[in-house]
Amino acid sequence: MSMRKTWLAIPVALLWGMVCFAQPSSTEHARSLAPFVPSPQPIVERMLAAADLKPGETLFDLGCGDGRVLITAARKFGAKAVGVELSPKLVEAANEQIKSMRLEDQVKVIQGDLMEADLSSADVVTIYLLTHSNDKIRPNLEKYLKRGARVVSHDFQVRGWKPIRVDKLEVYHRTHSIYVYEMPVER
Ligand SMILES: C[S@@+](CC[C@H](N)C(=O)[O-])C[C@H]1O[C@@H](n2cnc3c(N)ncnc32)[C@H](O)[C@@H]1O
Repeated sequence: MSMRKTWLAIPVALLWGMVCFAQPSSTEHARSLAPFVPSPQPIVERMLAAADLKPGETLFDLGCGDGRVLITAARKFGAKAVGVELSPKLVEAANEQIKSMRLEDQVKVIQGDLMEADLSSADVVTIYLLTHSNDKIRPNLEKYLKRGARVVSHDFQVRGWKPIRVDKLEVYHRTHSIYVYEMPVER
C-alpha cells in the first residue's frame, strides 16, 4: 500500500469504528420503541410534580435512557425508582451516575425490554416514547397498574385514554406537553 493510501486508511477505520460503536445491535433495533432523546431537566421535574410523586412511592421510567428521571425521582422527591432500558451502553451510563451519587439503595436499572416489565409495584410510570409505542404498551399498563397509579407521558398522548391533566411548558425554545393519567383511566 502506498504511503498516501495508508494515511487515508487510518481515519476511515477510526470513523467506521465510531459508527459501529454508536449503532444499536439488531436485536435492540427490532425491539426499540423510540430513540434516545433525553427529556430536558425542567420537563423531568414538571412530570414528577404533575404526577404528585410522593416520598416512598415507587416510580418506573420505561425506557430510562441515562437515568435522569430516576435520579430526580430519588433525589428531589424521595421516591424509589426503577428504570428499564434496552441499550446496555445507556444502562452502564445510568449506573455510573447512580453509583457516583450513592443512590444504589433507592434506584435500580433493569437492562431489558420494557414490554416484559412487571409494573404491579408502580405508583407512577413515566414514558417518553412515541404514539404508536404507547399503543403497544397500553395493554400492559392496563393489566398491571393498581388503582390510583399515575402514568405521565412526555409529548405523546396515550390514544384512547382521557388525561386528568395536561401541562404545556416552553423549554429551550420548544413547547413540551405533559399528559397525566390516573388508573383506572376514563376513556
Ligand atoms: C426518548 S428516550 C427517553 C429517555 C428518558 N426516559 C427521558 O425521558 O429522558 C426513549 C428511551 O427508550 C429506550 N427504549 C426504546 N425501546 C425500548 C424497549 N423496548 N425497552 C426498553 N427501553 C427502550 C431507548 O433506548 C431510549 O433510551
